[in-house]
Amino acid sequence: MRILHLSDTHVERTDAPNRNGVNATDSLRLMLAELRHLRDVDAVVVTGDIANEGDVEAYAAVRELVGEFARPLDAPVFYTTGNHDEREAFGKVLGSGHPDPERLLETGASERAAVSTVGGYRFVTLDSLVPGEVYGRISAAQLDWLREVLSTPAEHGTVLAFHHPPLALGLSVTQPVFGLLNPGELASAIRGSDVRVLLTGHFHLQLFGMLEAVPVWVTPGVVNRIDLTTPYGTERAVRGASASLVELGGPASPMFHTFHARDPRAHETVYQLDEERTRAVLEKYGPTALG
Ligand SMILES: [Fe+2]
Ligand SMILES: [Fe+2]
Repeated sequence: MRILHLSDTHVERTDAPNRNGVNATDSLRLMLAELRHLRDVDAVVVTGDIANEGDVEAYAAVRELVGEFARPLDAPVFYTTGNHDEREAFGKVLGSGHPDPERLLETGASERAAVSTVGGYRFVTLDSLVPGEVYGRISAAQLDWLREVLSTPAEHGTVLAFHHPPLALGLSVTQPVFGLLNPGELASAIRGSDVRVLLTGHFHLQLFGMLEAVPVWVTPGVVNRIDLTTPYGTERAVRGASASLVELGGPASPMFHTFHARDPRAHETVYQLDEERTRAVLEKYGPTALG
């Protein structure tokens, strides 16, 4: 099983530069053009922050670009929501996020979670979006549903995809207050199940860790990259689109590798927050929001 894992396209309503001077649609176009030689991709997973401000036009643009890429590969594309997404607009264009879901979450809420099977692997997407917040949470209703889904093992196991990593580095945007707030509840829902890997995004950098016995991959962003070489307490984003390939089923499974688009302006600073501004962001979206 070879999965192309994209995340954080942050596409705007119009095909134009964003407030940081980056054209997010161009970043996605460039990344996909760079991946044109990729073969034997069984599925494409896009783990949220698809639209920067939740515009229908942005979802349509991503669906068209990624769909065009995936069509000759005959690979289904699965989408999840992220903190920048808007569930209603997402649903209008991408539905459940699966082209032909075999099972959907039905909670009465608008959360988007679904199941599809590809080559004996079960793909489950969850919705960690908490409207208005940067951090994420997987609701009790989704966790109950997930337990039920996982109670029957799939032929080759399950791939679980959602936006907010259940991991934290304790630096800048990768602090626990910006990731998934209930990793323990997720861990208990998947303990002893056939989940082989968790695919996430949100941090805009590549990161690997474990949630108990399950490998967690954070794919870098398409729109930009967060550069952790900045001084402690500050934050820097640089140009450069990236993507990952996840290989499952071989003797070294899971394996992850990343692709970096050859952007002539790669590594140029997109924005830099000094200590004061970083602290202000943390205060606005971090601990006080948890109270
Ligand atoms: Fe993002
Ligand atoms: Fe995000």
